[in-house]
Amino acid sequence: MTRKPFVVANWKMNGSLKANADWIETALPQMSGTRLHCDVAVCAPSVYLSQLVKGFEHSATLVGAQNCAQYTQGAYTGEVSAGMLADIGCDLVILGHSERRTLFGETDETVAEKVKLAFDNGVMPIVCVGETLQEREAGQTIEVVSRQLRAVLNKVGIMPLVAGAVAYEPVWAIGTGKSASAEDAQAVHQALRAVLAEVDEEASKRTRILYGGSVKAKNAPELFAQPDIDGALVGGASLKAEDFLAICHCA
Ligand code: G3P
Repeated sequence: MTRKPFVVANWKMNGSLKANADWIETALPQMSGTRLHCDVAVCAPSVYLSQLVKGFEHSATLVGAQNCAQYTQGAYTGEVSAGMLADIGCDLVILGHSERRTLFGETDETVAEKVKLAFDNGVMPIVCVGETLQEREAGQTIEVVSRQLRAVLNKVGIMPLVAGAVAYEPVWAIGTGKSASAEDAQAVHQALRAVLAEVDEEASKRTRILYGGSVKAKNAPELFAQPDIDGALVGGASLKAEDFLAICHCA
């Protein structure tokens, strides 16, 4: 089963109208047509999503958010719903990022609820799982990421993940410049695919599992060569279009 590689930029809380316009202008010539052999998405802060939807409207580049509310609408000051993301033409949303879990108290249950709301509104979820350094050193990596993934599968089944993706992001590799080795990442991806296969073997083979955590053009080829690594979720190296495209060209 071949899965088309998928490379996703996660700008996190970065950007400005001017910087975003420059990013789009730099990237567009390479993101149009068949210059890339991977699917590409750019995930920006919600205030900039309309700018990106417009900027990428004539390219196959998908536009994503980095979170959505766990409610449909109403008195939730400051929140942005999945329906609103769909309303402005957003294609996908990153959910369960470790920064949301550790800094904003998101749980396996709230992540699963958000995945359901996103999928119900036609916004494809990229569901993040990953262990902390303490959990890795305690030998709990597979247990932790399997628990996180099963919470979503138990709530919504596997189809939202086939439509979107799963992203394995070891917390200790995010922003540290210290990526997991290709072999270690592959071992976790293989375990995640086995969890998916518990639900539906055929669908598990169609689900793309991305790696995130200090991905650069230097380490991308070895990561992408792994049988169960189907692409990357890129943070710091996505802030400059040329750095992000260099990773896309490795796929
Ligand atoms: O969501 C991707 C992000 O967490 C990875 O960040 O800077 O290690 O590529 P970075």
